[in-house]
Amino acid sequence: MATTDACLQETPQLPTPLLVTGGAGFIGSHFVEHMLLMHPALRIVVLDKLTYAGRKENLADVEAEPSLAKRLRFVHGDIADRALVGELLKKEHIAAVVNFAAETHVDRSLHEAIDFLNTDVVGVYQLLVAARQHNVSRFVQVSTDEVYGSVESGASKESDPMEPRSPYSASKAAADLMALAFFTSYGMHVSITRGSNTYGPRQFPEKLIPLFITNALEDRPLPLYGDGKNVRDWLHVRDHCRGIEAVLMRGEAGSIYNIGGDCGKTNLEVTEAILNIIGKPTALIRFVQDRPGHDRRYALDTSRARRLGFQPQTNFELGLRQTVLWYRDNVDWWKSVIHQDKDFRAYYERQYGNRLRNGVEALAESGHGE
Ligand code: NAD
Ligand code: DAU
Repeated sequence: MATTDACLQETPQLPTPLLVTGGAGFIGSHFVEHMLLMHPALRIVVLDKLTYAGRKENLADVEAEPSLAKRLRFVHGDIADRALVGELLKKEHIAAVVNFAAETHVDRSLHEAIDFLNTDVVGVYQLLVAARQHNVSRFVQVSTDEVYGSVESGASKESDPMEPRSPYSASKAAADLMALAFFTSYGMHVSITRGSNTYGPRQFPEKLIPLFITNALEDRPLPLYGDGKNVRDWLHVRDHCRGIEAVLMRGEAGSIYNIGGDCGKTNLEVTEAILNIIGKPTALIRFVQDRPGHDRRYALDTSRARRLGFQPQTNFELGLRQTVLWYRDNVDWWKSVIHQDKDFRAYYERQYGNRLRNGVEALAESGHGE
């Protein structure tokens, strides 16, 4: 990975130590690694509940490198536990918080959203309260482009109204509003990042790219929702981390920053690219019944973050190839989940069983997609 980021020049004082919540998840674990590598004086405390999506082994590379490991502390716990968070902030003299902790999968939120409310809304509130009580100097809330809702044309600006359409995005939008309220009401230094669809190593194999890579590697069908023409803006995980880093270091209090890859692609284009890299036939693609309320297109105007020095650096084809190689080289990381984890098997059956057995036409007729 490049280490000459424009956004790292003229480095202002970075608050340390940093509390990174959700740091054992996909983006959080890359952020921890990136920040420890780029900032030799930085200490990080990770707080993570280790839900199905979080794993301590996601921090194994950091823990294997003594110069990084000695600056990292891991704490198992829930952001919604105000007493625990308060104690941690006090004991560790935490200077700033970056909150990645969340329930993150749209399809799961369509089955049942109570965990989304408990973490993405109540958890964020509890974290804000504790951070305020302990005079944390900066708080970055990691949010998503999904809060804007579907955009048929053009690109969402930070000043656009939020129109979330899934239980997941509604919970993230609520958190954005609460975080902004802490700026307005109490003058807390809160900034919000709204990132686009992120891909790279260590993403849980329920999301489009890792699910389709792992299915294709095992010659299993790739369930593409609807007509496959929904558009997402793809952002490499390291670029997402660089954007959050720029906001942590230079973001204004009370401001929102879009972090995107300027890389809009249909799901079908992404699927074909995966199959092409792995060398598997397009016959593996199955068009299945659509996700209910499926947002057609996301796109972000990132000019505000670019003024902070953010610029995506990873070419999509190269980033995707590198991601495929990672899954090919780390089969133990995902095979145990896909084949042995009972909860994952149950989720997969609920989400895809009928879709794959019946095909899109049969399901559309019966109305029993879910
Ligand atoms: P992920 O699902 O891989 O990881 C989430 C992490 O949060 C896990 O380690 C989990 O154990 C932890 N966690 C969940 N509930 C918790 C709680 N109550 N207390 C403490 N830890 C808890 O998620 P991700 O894809 O890395 O996303 C991280 C953040 O970035 C989320 O806030 C998400 O909304 C946002 N985001 C993700 C994307 C994307 O494409 N993945 C894009 C934009 C924004
Ligand atoms: O846009 C940012 C968001 O990106 C994040 O906030 C979310 O946390 C993250 O999960 C992601 O949400 P999406 O719903 O866009 O990601 P997902 O990988 O689930 O789906 C990407 C697209 O692929 C979407 O249009 C639905 C489609 N899809 C997904 C799956 C899992 C399929 O066609 N088939 C599938 O099996």
